[in-house]
Amino acid sequence: MLSMSDFVLVNRRRKRCNGRRNFSRGAETLTQAWEGCEVDHDSSYYYYLLRTLDGTLVKIRDTSFAKLVLSRLTESLTILNSNGISEIVCYGLGRFSQHRSSRYQLALLLYLKERYDARVYIYDPIFNPQEVLVLRALGLEIIETNEEGKRIVRDETTTLVYMPHCSRQLMNNFLYANWGDGLSNCILFANSFSRIINSCSRRIILDTAGYMLRIRPYVTELQLENSFVHEEVFNDLNIHIFTKQDLLKIPPDFWDSREEPRYLTDEVEFIRTATLW
Ligand SMILES: C[S@@+](CC[C@H](N)C(=O)[O-])C[C@H]1O[C@@H](n2cnc3c(N)ncnc32)[C@H](O)[C@@H]1O
Repeated sequence: MLSMSDFVLVNRRRKRCNGRRNFSRGAETLTQAWEGCEVDHDSSYYYYLLRTLDGTLVKIRDTSFAKLVLSRLTESLTILNSNGISEIVCYGLGRFSQHRSSRYQLALLLYLKERYDARVYIYDPIFNPQEVLVLRALGLEIIETNEEGKRIVRDETTTLVYMPHCSRQLMNNFLYANWGDGLSNCILFANSFSRIINSCSRRIILDTAGYMLRIRPYVTELQLENSFVHEEVFNDLNIHIFTKQDLLKIPPDFWDSREEPRYLTDEVEFIRTATLW
């Protein structure tokens, strides 16, 4: 994976679009990452963004919170009898060029990518072109369409689903798409299911998170005590897994009722329309 020091600052403004490239390998530079993207590049802005991210990554590595996340993931993998995380799907990271929370969440994501040597697929409809470019340069793969959280994870491997502070609807859609035994192939890093269910009215849960409510008795939630210096970055997040033992307790017809969720209201935290740059 590239480190920030691999990037070279070049003062050039507009480049023509020559098609997309994959920047995930080798000692490629930010200059190369710029090729193929039709955006106005402000080199000082890039330099600033990359330097800031670099600092954030350094800060997060040695925190007790990052260590706790790693130890909970190790615990989860042992319970799931899995030897590693080969893919990470990240939804709803937010504008990391503007918001500290998103920046730290990105740093933790990069740390986990590095730790597990995992491929990372990422989407948030509000990323701007410059953020997309930076993510690509860091070796992350941009999901090109708004899947509304409905990505189906692969059977033969364990996927970490990284959704810090995402809407209930987005998580509900993910559960809907993967409704069945295949849930044991994922580890969810997301807002605590139990806290969401206990803090919202039944009506709201039924309207926005019916699948979360139904799977709740069969989820193992591993607590992530929030020791992080900026409390708002990782608050209320837990690791969630679906153990084979628990899934075996589920009556066979439990999975049969599987209607596509429809939500009554539009919310900024859950964007439905396909939004591409
Ligand atoms: C409450 S914000 C959380 C942002 C950040 N993770 C944080 O903790 O500050 C929810 C995020 O979900 C994103 N989002 C909304 N609809 C989405 C979709 N269909 N797919 C992926 N992300 C989506 C929003 O753009 C927003 O950045």
